[in-house]
This record gives sequence, structure tokens and C-alpha cells, in this order.
Amino acid sequence: MIFEQVANGGCQSYLVGCSDSCVAALIDPEVRKIDRYRALAAQHGVRIQYIIDTHTHADHFSASKQMSETLGVPVIAHRLSPAPYVDLRVDEGDVIKIGSLRLTVLHTPGHTRDSMSLVASDRVFTGDALLIGATGRTDLPSGDPDELYDSLFGKILKLEPNMRIYPAHVYKGAACSTIEEETRSNPRLQKRERAEFVEMMRTLSLSMPEHLTEALRVNMSGGVSVAQLLSEAAAEVPFMSMDEVKSRVAAGANDFIVLDVRERDSFDAGHIPTAKHLPRGLLELKVNEALPDPTVRIVTYCDYGKISTLAAATLRRMGFTRAVALDGGMKVWREKNFPIESQA
Ligand SMILES: [Fe+2]
Repeated sequence: MIFEQVANGGCQSYLVGCSDSCVAALIDPEVRKIDRYRALAAQHGVRIQYIIDTHTHADHFSASKQMSETLGVPVIAHRLSPAPYVDLRVDEGDVIKIGSLRLTVLHTPGHTRDSMSLVASDRVFTGDALLIGATGRTDLPSGDPDELYDSLFGKILKLEPNMRIYPAHVYKGAACSTIEEETRSNPRLQKRERAEFVEMMRTLSLSMPEHLTEALRVNMSGGVSVAQLLSEAAAEVPFMSMDEVKSRVAAGANDFIVLDVRERDSFDAGHIPTAKHLPRGLLELKVNEALPDPTVRIVTYCDYGKISTLAAATLRRMGFTRAVALDGGMKVWREKNFPIESQA
């Protein structure tokens, strides 16, 4: 059995596969690790056959949709998953075949209603139902402590005691545990009566995960995060260094346009000499009058280098094939004491 555990902060994802059939499945992939997963699959000589999400994640950005599109393979999730891009919806007792490897679906709601655990011969991927020394929280959308009680005490803890547990999160300590070990030492599992377990889960005061609303929006809809939008735009444009822009401006180069895409107030307060002003919000509407020559070289800039990257990518898509973005923004330009012109 091929097995790789990939950590991204506390989030865990897994590549599991069959070396005889050269196929694998990826469990709970995260966007920032896409290259790592692909490299691991290549290293093991396996084709990723399925992408599986154990549940709708609220705390990380799932790479499932993106990987499924680039690899041309189905996304598997529980039938209650709200994500519209799920190709294969599974339910309690279904078996996912990956060569000679078998993953049996256990519906283990409570953390979310679409949570499932995947049982292999000697290990179980518990998603956020059972964690090491903890359990998934039940206070996020579709969470329910009563359901988690049933999932844990009625299903997961009834698996073989020596079965290993691989959860979707490991915040500290060992990267895996066993059913026996958790039953014995996991503090939350010591509350064995339903009422006391539910009461404990209801009174945990946990801080909300970072990016909660954005992660839920992206994972439930298959849309993109702001970071993803920016990195896609950055991959589509070249950049120009500040020194290069400064010397071209100083030399009075007339073969390129410095384009300030910030709001009017910022432009008036100080801009790169010779810069033309066209705010990002009006770019598409005013582009024809502001930039009549599509062959001109354009360098966009803003305060931090993000909006200018989006603007350069938009310009390229519209046919300004020589548009680039400033590597950095006005904030650093000022810090460097580079020349500034103001409207006053
Ligand atoms: Fe989760």
C-alpha cells in the first residue's frame, strides 16, 4: 500500500494507493500543496484516480475541484455534500476501489452533516470526526453534537482497537494514533454518556477558524479564493522592477506607459512621474479611450502590487500583450525615496 501524509500547518491530507495497479486516491487535498501531491504521485509512479473530500472544510481551501479539472478525475464526497462539483456521491457502506485497496464509507456526521470516515484494512481516515486527543468541533454550519456522539461511540470506536487513525487535522504531537489509544486517553471520549458529551461539546469555547466564510464559500461552491485569483493573475503576467521603471522614467522613455490603477485620491496625493491614471474599477470601461494603442508597453502599479497584477492580467486578456505589472507597489516606491509627482 502506498501511503503518504502531507501536512499543511495543522491540516493533513493523504495519498493512498496500490503499487500493483499504479493508482491512488488523494484525501482532503489543500490548494497550497497541489504541486507536492503531483510530485508524490510521480515519485510513486501512480496515477491519481480519485480526489476525496471527507467533508466540507471550513478551515482550509480544498484543492478538489482544481485537481479534478486538471487531472480529469472525479471528486468523491458524501451524498450530503453541498458542493456542486462533486462527481461521485457516496453513502454509508459504499466501497471505493483503488486497485487492490478498498476504502469503505462510514457516514460520521456531527462535525458537519456530510462528514464521512474511510475505512481501509488497517487504518481509518476520520476526517474531522475523531482527531488525536480531540474531536472535530460541532459549532460550525451543519455541526451537531448529538450526531457526533453517535458517529464516535456508535461507529468509529467500534472499529478494531488496533486500527490506526489518520485525521484531517493534527495540531500537535503524533501524526497518527489508534482506536484503542484514543478510547483510553482522548479526553473528549471520556465523556461516554450522551448528555455529558453533548454538554461538553456545547460549552467548548473555540475561536473561529481563520478564513471561515471564505473557505466555506469556496469549498461549497467550487469558486476561487482571493489568494487564488491573485496567484492566477500573477502567473499570467511578467513584472518590471522598480529600478527599471525609475530609470525608464528618468530617461524620458516615450515607448511605454506607466499606468496608475489606484483611486483618484491616491493618485493626486503622489504618483510615479509621467504616470497616467486609470483606476482598476474603470479599467474595462475606459480602456478604449485611455489606451488606444494595443502594441504599447504598459506597466501597471498600485499601492501593494496586487490590484496592479489583476489589472495587467486583464489588460493582457483584452489584447494588450505587452502589459506588465510593477514588482512591488507605491508603498515601497515611497520607502525607497524614488521620485514622486503630485497633483498639487
Ligand atoms: Fe473540518
